[in-house]
Amino acid sequence: MTYRKNRRRGLAATLATAAVAATLLGAAAPRPPVHVDNPFAGASFYVNPDYARLVEGSVARTTDPAVRARMRAVKRHPTAVWLDRIAAIHGGRANAGRKSLAHHLDLALARKKPGRPVVATFVVYDLPGRDCAAQASNGELPLTEEGLDRYRTEYIDAIAKVFARPKYRDIRITTVIEPDGLPNLVTNLSDPECALAQSSGIQVEAVRYALDRLHAIPNVYTYLDFAHSGWLGWDSNLTQTVRLYTDVVKGTAAGLASVDGLVTNVSNYTPLDEPFLTDPERVVGDGPVRSNAFYGWNPRFDEADFTRSVHRELVAQGWPGTTGMVIDTSRNGWGGPARPTAESTSASLDTYVTESRVDRRAQRGLWCNVAGAGLGEPPRAAPAGYPGSHLDAFLWVKPPGESDGSGENIPNGEGKRPDPMCDPAATPGALPHAPLAGHWFHDQFRMLVTNAHPPVS
Ligand code: BGC
Repeated sequence: MTYRKNRRRGLAATLATAAVAATLLGAAAPRPPVHVDNPFAGASFYVNPDYARLVEGSVARTTDPAVRARMRAVKRHPTAVWLDRIAAIHGGRANAGRKSLAHHLDLALARKKPGRPVVATFVVYDLPGRDCAAQASNGELPLTEEGLDRYRTEYIDAIAKVFARPKYRDIRITTVIEPDGLPNLVTNLSDPECALAQSSGIQVEAVRYALDRLHAIPNVYTYLDFAHSGWLGWDSNLTQTVRLYTDVVKGTAAGLASVDGLVTNVSNYTPLDEPFLTDPERVVGDGPVRSNAFYGWNPRFDEADFTRSVHRELVAQGWPGTTGMVIDTSRNGWGGPARPTAESTSASLDTYVTESRVDRRAQRGLWCNVAGAGLGEPPRAAPAGYPGSHLDAFLWVKPPGESDGSGENIPNGEGKRPDPMCDPAATPGALPHAPLAGHWFHDQFRMLVTNAHPPVS
């Protein structure tokens, strides 16, 4: 991020001169905006009261006092605020009574302690032709020039206008940009909607526009979504995807400096660490561990390995070493009774992998309201113990308890459709009776709290 740092230094110098002049004139000196390398470091995290309210609803429906106490503890955890449609910027009745973007920022400011920065995270998620490879989170904007136009003016411009208000300059505003958007343009081109998203160039234009507008605000930080190890962990996918990101970001006004980092595992269940499967090349029975059907030769079993490899590849393709990585750990804990406690001693590869892995999914591709999952590591800045991963933070980007989607046809004005991946009859391992994506799912929340790893305290 050399470019950005140089630019800031130039700006700071200008403002320092202005400050001297202002002091001489007896006016209050304007403080220079600061753009730090890791916005989460040393900051307190904004806790979304809308999320806390949803959790309270689950507490009220729970009788076991131990589970209630754990739910109450989860309520105090920070989660990202999803701007998942234009109405989410404005809040109120059009968005299920949730707070507007400005209201969240006012609250973040009100809770800021003197001398300590505050950081609030927002998910920018309204790409034209969104969720092209699935149905559960199809959005409101079509994959057309008109959709792109509305994305720019009614969505990104509206967000940028709020972020840029001078009163918010002391908040470190971090953004997670378009979950699944660019990754779908690499691996899902056999899907006609994704193929069109790619060939039309509309989604790349949209992401570049978002970066240009958001990067221009000094206290806003941009993190591009980068899928997860179970999706992009193969060498060929990983290299090719970093290449796409490099091209996309080089096409923004500030080039690579317009991105502060990447975020992986958003809304997914891939573990941070597979403690008993540490060597993908180790031969057990028929072949190396990674040749087992669960991994399909993908050598990256977890997000710790994945972020390390992605960071290395970014630097190899010319990105600054200061590019930060963030992992969504909201639902990748895999605690509970099914969690293995030791490496398997089986000599059969299949049994060995099945008994050793903490990821209890039947297949790594399952992503909708996965049965057996638990809350993961609590959000925190600069987690130690992951050398080479350059982790800026663990975050709970997906608010645990909000559904991934429904298998049933539930009429709605959000563009969401029934998804077979969320239908337990079509996809064993998806929880039954799920509401629409983003809506509160009490049974899932209870399960996540019960299976948390580390346990909620
Ligand atoms: C949904 C969004 C929701 C988000 C967070 C996504 O799957 O499509 O509407 O805001 O999850 O729960």
